[in-house]
Amino acid sequence: MPRSLTYLERALAEGQSVVGSSSLGHDPVRERYPQWAHLPYVTSPDFDKALKQVTTVHDIDGIFTPNPVIWDYLHRTLLHTCPGVTLVNASPIDVEMAPYQTAMDFGKSVLAHPLELAASNAAKPAISTLEIASLFRHADSIPGMCDHEKIRALCEIFRHTPAGDIVEIGSWWGKSAFVLLRLAQCYETGKLLCIDPWSNEHLIQHEGKGLVDRVPVSADEALTVYLLNLLPYANGSVNFIRLPSVDAAIQYRKTPLVATPVFGKTEYSGRIAVLHIDGNHSYANAQADVASWCDLVMPGGWVIIDDYIWPYGDGPQRVGDELLSRWFKKIACSFVMGSALFIQIA
Ligand SMILES: C[S@@+](CC[C@H](N)C(=O)[O-])C[C@H]1O[C@@H](n2cnc3c(N)ncnc32)[C@H](O)[C@@H]1O
Repeated sequence: MPRSLTYLERALAEGQSVVGSSSLGHDPVRERYPQWAHLPYVTSPDFDKALKQVTTVHDIDGIFTPNPVIWDYLHRTLLHTCPGVTLVNASPIDVEMAPYQTAMDFGKSVLAHPLELAASNAAKPAISTLEIASLFRHADSIPGMCDHEKIRALCEIFRHTPAGDIVEIGSWWGKSAFVLLRLAQCYETGKLLCIDPWSNEHLIQHEGKGLVDRVPVSADEALTVYLLNLLPYANGSVNFIRLPSVDAAIQYRKTPLVATPVFGKTEYSGRIAVLHIDGNHSYANAQADVASWCDLVMPGGWVIIDDYIWPYGDGPQRVGDELLSRWFKKIACSFVMGSALFIQIA
């Protein structure tokens, strides 16, 4: 089972001695293990005796099995058949179920503690626990930079959002894009447009000590990962422009049509209901994002400036504060959650 091989790699990296075992006449992964022991099927009357012999001969003190049936059997019998030998992993069923349980808890808690937003429009009825939990579960399987508090805030603001386009500046592997897409589908808000050059050159931010700039990543690979993550949910309601935000804004203002080989043709409305700014965080770039896009956000719509609180630089915060003072008279509601700044236009 694949999880056994993951365990094998970790155990070997930690310098442990590992003996592989199964009941197949020829097990295709046998060669990957430094040592091997054949065991009869667990249903065979000889199984317990054979297991005892293998653990003695190889001086085994721990057993890993991702198979729920074998794990359960050993959990009940090991103490008697092989005293001193223990199961090293928790119940495989509990391990598999834990992320689903966490997702359901998240869904319940979002509905039990709604944010009291001073938003300018009446809230739409919330989507169900199951819908929030499934959004959370799928988002959790996508790597990236969208924490749980931010997801919670996004779940809430979509209840207070008019119909229009959802535009994201900076999508990378697609984590926040997925959350925006799913909420836009659930609340029938509109289509998602992702703007990202996916180019290593545009990752340089010259912020703080340059720590972020030093992380080795591949932008081409990031685009592939983004596509892998969004393709199953696209269904005509998402597309992307592979350009820096300033150039993409020129294209978006010229035509509401975006076409890519992967997602096909998408027609946007040209009016933005939610603008999520999470691109290059240098002050100059964040300022250019705001200047190129913010006037397209419609009344009742939202601007989100991600990493408003950011340990590596203050670009997003300076830009967010400038926007707050410039728009002071037309803001319905603003707050910081999950380190992002949320602003709703009155
Ligand atoms: C922090 S990542 C985005 C993370 C993503 N929103 C998530 O939740 O996982 C920043 C992204 O901004 C993109 N970017 C950099 N310069 C940009 C620009 N001028 N316009 C649009 N996106 C840009 C980068 O390619 C990168 O994908």
